[in-house]
Amino acid sequence: MRIFVPRDAAAKAVGAEAVAAAVRAEAAARGLPVELVRNGSRGMVWLEPLLEVETSEGRIAFGPVTAADVPALFDAGFGAHPKALGLTAEIPFLKKQTRFTFARVGLIDPLSLSEYQAQGGLAGLHKAIAMSPEAIVAEVADSGLRGRGGAGFPTGIKWKTVLGAEAAQKYVVCNADEGDSGTFADRMLMEGDPFTLIEGMAIAALAVGATRGYIYSRSEYPDANEVMGQAIAIARAAGVLGPDMLGSGRAFELELRVGAGAYVCGEETALLNSLEGKRGVVRAKPPIPALQGLFGQPTVVNNVLSLAAVPEILAQGAAAYVAHGVGRSRGTIPLQIAGNVRFGGLFETGFGITLGEIVNDIAGGTASGRPVKAVQVGGPLGAYHPVSDFGLPFSYEDFAGSGGLVGHAGLVVHDDSVDMLQMARFALEFCAIESCGKCTPCRIGAVRGVEVVDRIAAGDAAAIPLLTDLCQTMKLGSLCALGGFTPYPVLSALTHFPDDFATLQEAAE
Ligand SMILES: Cc1cc2nc3c(=O)[nH]c(=O)nc-3n(C[C@H](O)[C@H](O)[C@H](O)COP(=O)(O)O)c2cc1C
Ligand code: SF4
Repeated sequence: MRIFVPRDAAAKAVGAEAVAAAVRAEAAARGLPVELVRNGSRGMVWLEPLLEVETSEGRIAFGPVTAADVPALFDAGFGAHPKALGLTAEIPFLKKQTRFTFARVGLIDPLSLSEYQAQGGLAGLHKAIAMSPEAIVAEVADSGLRGRGGAGFPTGIKWKTVLGAEAAQKYVVCNADEGDSGTFADRMLMEGDPFTLIEGMAIAALAVGATRGYIYSRSEYPDANEVMGQAIAIARAAGVLGPDMLGSGRAFELELRVGAGAYVCGEETALLNSLEGKRGVVRAKPPIPALQGLFGQPTVVNNVLSLAAVPEILAQGAAAYVAHGVGRSRGTIPLQIAGNVRFGGLFETGFGITLGEIVNDIAGGTASGRPVKAVQVGGPLGAYHPVSDFGLPFSYEDFAGSGGLVGHAGLVVHDDSVDMLQMARFALEFCAIESCGKCTPCRIGAVRGVEVVDRIAAGDAAAIPLLTDLCQTMKLGSLCALGGFTPYPVLSALTHFPDDFATLQEAAE
């Protein structure tokens, strides 16, 4: 009998280790030949720890399971039980998804290269080996894939620039710094299907002519780092990485580097500085990393999700990917649904689903049962959207058009008890704490911004135009998007929820 208990950090946080230990102990006590697989998470976080059992009809799920539930599950022969959820694949949250990048996450043993291959893994890399670099770049460009790390820059164009650059050494760098509020997709992928990222980076290396790669992760991700490190060693031993990638005669060496956890180190140039052993401050652009990146050499810097989408794009062809989505937002987007929701987790779907569908239908509204007031989309630099924005289709263009951003596709839902003035203050305080200090609008502006919000909170109405003026200066004058985008949460809070900024004087009048 095969039993699956995730070793994903979110599952572990709610007791998966104890459940796994209980399964082992119970199987041993009963003398049952149980194979316990520590898989990734299926992404239904409210059901974690989600225990699954393989049957002839498919995998059946139980959750959320505690260690105390385990003996009764064995007694019931993993049949009728209060925690039984039926076939995993039929759970609506999972069934409604289009899983492209996350197709194998939760399904396979993350560190089994043979299971990875049995589920279609390495097909993309084998195809890429038989293609010219130009053809690989063209396939990625045709897929319409845009960077999932935040800026949404077309991946094909970035790769073409690195391919066209003349240099003795080129690099592929994976940005796994994932510091946005409410995001966990990069972590989940690294913990649940690490070979996909390795394969995506190997394909990127073939496409641009790089021989070395680095994954820049963060110290707050010990589980992801452990799985990723082991997966790299397994891939190297199997010849997927190394001097002769899958017998192609092409070399690609890959290393995992762990940063100390500064938000700004997710910004690509600060990340490169950090990788070089320097302080993580932002570099002025130009030169762009594609031409002068790591150690001054042409470098592809891509997010985990961008790189992890590539193997399937190569395996299935660009047309299979471009078929999903709307407008210039093609393919699928792994949404990360968090905050005050009933059903939080990872939901991969084609672009175009509306914000209201995500919050009400997929996430099931608020966990508190109170009305939704605001949804922050795109991390700490993303705008707060009111319920009147619920018709907005999830796409780069629609969100930019409404004064927001898709970012890394994290959504944090708030009910009507949230104080939007405090949220605006938090955004500025976050910027003040995380600022790298290189430019004045961000370094000083964020500190002054907190003070101005405090003046508004104390009843000084005259400070409101000062706040908008300050935001304008930060937006236009900052060197990078940390200072440049902090005005998005601040101004969206002010614009959509003016009552929360109504001053004490106004209230008294
Ligand atoms: C303050 C700041 C933090 C960022 N954090 C991340 C991050 O954690 N992960 C990420 O992939 N991109 C992050 N980015 C975006 C990167 O600078 C860069 O655009 C991205 O890694 C490029 O990869 P992509 O084209 O695949 O998205 C951040 C940008 C800024 C300004
Ligand atoms: S905006 Fe902030 S984080 Fe970005 S370069 Fe300027 S000081 Fe550094």
